[in-house]
Amino acid sequence: MRRMKFTGVGAYVPERVVTNHDLEKMMDTSDEWIQQRTGIVERRWVEPGLENSDMAAKATLAACQDAGCDVKDIDLIIYATLSPEYLFPGTGVVLEKKLGLTRTPVLDIRNQCSGFLYGLAVANGMIASGMYQRILLVGSELHSRGLNKSTAGRDVTVIFGDGAGATVLEATDEDKGLIDILIHADGRYAEDLTCLLPSARVEGFITPEQVARGEHYPHMAGNKVFKHAIVKMPEAIQEVCKRNHLTPRDLDVLIPHQANLRINEIVGRALEIEPKVFNNIQKYGNTTAASIPLAMRDALDQGFLKPGHLLGLTAFGSGFTWGAALVRM
Ligand code: COA
Repeated sequence: MRRMKFTGVGAYVPERVVTNHDLEKMMDTSDEWIQQRTGIVERRWVEPGLENSDMAAKATLAACQDAGCDVKDIDLIIYATLSPEYLFPGTGVVLEKKLGLTRTPVLDIRNQCSGFLYGLAVANGMIASGMYQRILLVGSELHSRGLNKSTAGRDVTVIFGDGAGATVLEATDEDKGLIDILIHADGRYAEDLTCLLPSARVEGFITPEQVARGEHYPHMAGNKVFKHAIVKMPEAIQEVCKRNHLTPRDLDVLIPHQANLRINEIVGRALEIEPKVFNNIQKYGNTTAASIPLAMRDALDQGFLKPGHLLGLTAFGSGFTWGAALVRM
């Protein structure tokens, strides 16, 4: 079985910075509440005219430049997002068109905050089997246009931000790259973090009455998500380490999904590796499928993550879905 390594990591965030103080002007919230409960100081929101696939394209070009390859050299695009441009087709083909490609296969995946890890697992299987040599995995989210910016939506709206991250993944014979990955899901919690509309359960997929009631906005049982996240992410890291005869202390860096700084602090303490946990949620909020590649790019730029490091990745989110991976950089 062939290994898969990261040869390029790229990121893009919109220029518009939205601080907690900006949100105070839209809804009944405070900078103090948001920072204490989530660690978030600011996030990015798109300006009109910038779409999910535009952010993905910018992150892709940066990742390809980092990898020293051309977009034409990509064998498969995997696109993870929960904020697609159309109900169908998936946003992957919109990205493909913007990249000037006309034959490259595109796979869209809907695994929310675990989307990047799920995409990594799929890419790994395809590279290990010999089906593809070079895969682009992109996570891109445009949350801001779908958030309830009144006080009724404050628990969700203060958390999420827009942005994209992309990685070029290539087959390698070297002793580096993805060591192992595991993914899990438990659909009993599907409605605890969800956006119910538009839906094929509804005539016309959405009604004006539902929109008037605000049912098209995301809904989150925040406490429940929190309680599961702080258990499942450490468990997944323990599990992936154990089956590779490692312990979490062997990790040089852990990049968890960026949903809440308090969650990540608890994960770091549970694994007894708090100083090795990298966070950038303070600047970007929760960018869902984009958060891990965005954090990888920042960690590399800051020298926190270096070639040769043993990197742990973990995520938890809507579904519920979660997972963990080990990577030799
Ligand atoms: N500003 C001010 N007050 C707010 C608020 C906001 N943005 N959002 C909620 N509140 C209020 C609530 O209305 C509640 O008020 P009450 O006590 O008068 O009813 C109070 O703050 C506490 O709410 P609660 O939901 O218990 O807070 P919490 O400590 O659980 O923090 C979250 C809320 C959302 C930050 C937290 O549950 C969380 O981070 N959950 C996980 C979210 C997550 O990871 N989502 C993505 C998954 S990938």
